[in-house]
Amino acid sequence: MEKQPIIETDRLLLRPFDLADAATVQRLCGDHAVAATTLLPYPYPEGLAEIWIASLSEGIERGDAAGFAVTLAREKRLIGGVRLQIDPVHVRGELGFWIGRSCWGRGYATEAVRAVIGYGFSALGLHRIHAMHFSRNPASGRVMEKCGMVHEGRLREHVRKWGVYEDVDVWGIVSPSLGPGLVV
Ligand SMILES: CC(C)(COP(=O)(O)OP(=O)(O)OC[C@H]1O[C@@H](n2cnc3c(N)ncnc32)[C@H](O)[C@@H]1OP(=O)(O)O)[C@@H](O)C(=O)NCCC(=O)NCCS
Repeated sequence: MEKQPIIETDRLLLRPFDLADAATVQRLCGDHAVAATTLLPYPYPEGLAEIWIASLSEGIERGDAAGFAVTLAREKRLIGGVRLQIDPVHVRGELGFWIGRSCWGRGYATEAVRAVIGYGFSALGLHRIHAMHFSRNPASGRVMEKCGMVHEGRLREHVRKWGVYEDVDVWGIVSPSLGPGLVV
């Protein structure tokens, strides 16, 4: 995880995940409300957080992932995560992110995702960053929009979630179209 810097924003400190975070990841991702709009399993199995943190670390080492624990700068409290799955062939990254339910609606996802997009372009040299969300999860789309991403379309019944085929919306940003406020 040494490959990644710590990123400071106005209110957040984005740092590498550590195995010591596993219990908090399990608690926050184990929330039904978080599982419902992601591909996370529910209930969240014991031990999965450790596996996820270790595999993220391996991905960072290989150069095909970047991942940050989202923490409140003042309290140093872990509240979420932002991850980029990198495709080196196409020089692009796919974003995924979550914030613990008690911290929703305060702009934290936007602040964290905006910083990671900036990191993806400036430090990782990515050409394009894209992301998907369930169409029934407009808050996620709003985060993407606020981060300068462009709505590129809707994939009908693209994902089967808990036995139901679901539409997903696709958003993207390419490096020349960085909006104001993005640090590059
Ligand atoms: C989606 C999620 C990351 C948003 O985190 P957050 O910290 O609350 O996001 P922010 O506060 O930065 O921004 C949320 C925006 O969505 C808006 N929003 C919330 N609910 C909404 C709804 N039902 N319809 C439209 N917009 C909505 C908010 O008003 C805010 O926009 P605004 O600043 O213009 O008012 C969080 O709800 C989450 O982690 N959900 C579970 C996991 C998940 O869905 N991850 C994304 C998978 S792609």
